[in-house]
Amino acid sequence: MIRCVSCGAEYDDDEVIYTCEKCGSVLELVSDIDVSKDIFDGRRDNLWKFKECIPVDETKIVSLNEGGTPFCKCDKLGDELGVNLYVKVEGSNPTGSFKDRGMTVGMTKAMELGVSTVGCASTGNTSASLAAYAARAGLRCIVFLPSGKVALGKLAQAMFHGAEVMSINGNFDEALEAMTSLALEKYLYLLNSINPYRLEGQKTIGYEILRDLDWQSPDRIILPVGNAGNISAIWKGVSEFYNAGFVKDLPMMTGIQAEGACPVTNAFKKGDKRVVPVENPETVATAIRIGAPVSDIKALNAIYDSNGYSETVSDEEILDAQKLLARTEGIGVEPASAASIAGLKKLVDQGVIDKGETITCVVTGHLLKDPNTAIDACTKPIEVDADIDTLRKLLMN
Ligand code: F0G
Repeated sequence: MIRCVSCGAEYDDDEVIYTCEKCGSVLELVSDIDVSKDIFDGRRDNLWKFKECIPVDETKIVSLNEGGTPFCKCDKLGDELGVNLYVKVEGSNPTGSFKDRGMTVGMTKAMELGVSTVGCASTGNTSASLAAYAARAGLRCIVFLPSGKVALGKLAQAMFHGAEVMSINGNFDEALEAMTSLALEKYLYLLNSINPYRLEGQKTIGYEILRDLDWQSPDRIILPVGNAGNISAIWKGVSEFYNAGFVKDLPMMTGIQAEGACPVTNAFKKGDKRVVPVENPETVATAIRIGAPVSDIKALNAIYDSNGYSETVSDEEILDAQKLLARTEGIGVEPASAASIAGLKKLVDQGVIDKGETITCVVTGHLLKDPNTAIDACTKPIEVDADIDTLRKLLMN
């Protein structure tokens, strides 16, 4: 069953619907978990090991073996900050971001519904993922990208997997509004995170974190927030396993935004339940360059209900954290993902996070998604002939 998060109106699972017809709010799937956690043992470690908890037809699954991503204990960085730190590396998914979790479920639903065309607006990763899964499913794929603001790796993926890519003269929020109108006119099936099936896939990040910690909850899960789907999805996941009795505690959901694109943090700091859109969002972390997040209600509920927090970080803090994670722990992430590490550092400094807390930072996309930003942050390689004497001298410096 699909249910409105605001007025509780209920809809059938097979209705193609993105927002509540009664009040216009966002929707979610209602799923009861009536299995024992032991059934997940011994299964291949991907998202579909949790198939009983994902409300789609398992005979229609479109998968690239997503999920089951690395859960790295990061003692060097953790010790430096005085916390017990784990990093969930979502860049290890098939197309290099957590979006694949949402897309395998969303595309499976698309097959169930028998649609022929899928579409999304995207800051890059959603389009890369959608293009790959649409190719696998054999469906036509249309993506709208904000012109000039999509990192190179993501653009290459969307184009290479055969999506019809439109570069929109406008920002992500405008591109999404246009894409949503076309979906409502039934030109295509919308696979942005306003589609509640997307979040059914992404909630498995929450499942896996609890499983990875041997069925315990971290004190806190920290992640970057853009369109605000992922924080909502992870909260749904951990809440479902908590309600099923698989864990005794819940994590404080902690959403980090870039200073130039921070409607959710602004709302949190005022205690509001809805955001006031940011008109011209701007940040080096183009993945989260979003001013009007569609899942704001769900995200703010997640933060308030979990006794969580939201904070902003500057572009400089993001780039510093990106380098710090890469050079102290060997984990290469794109700028948006590094917002979680930058946020952790800031909240420890502010005393919001206590020393000794067990923290999971979700890093959402791979370093290679945005090669230009990575290269700009480094000194150029030294050009030199393959002459041993010269090379020896250089190494001795
Ligand atoms: N991190 C990365 C790498 C992302 O690509 C995104 C969103 C987020 C974090 C934020 O997640 O929107 O669920 O709050 N990227 C979308 C896209 C908007 O189009 O690829 P969110």
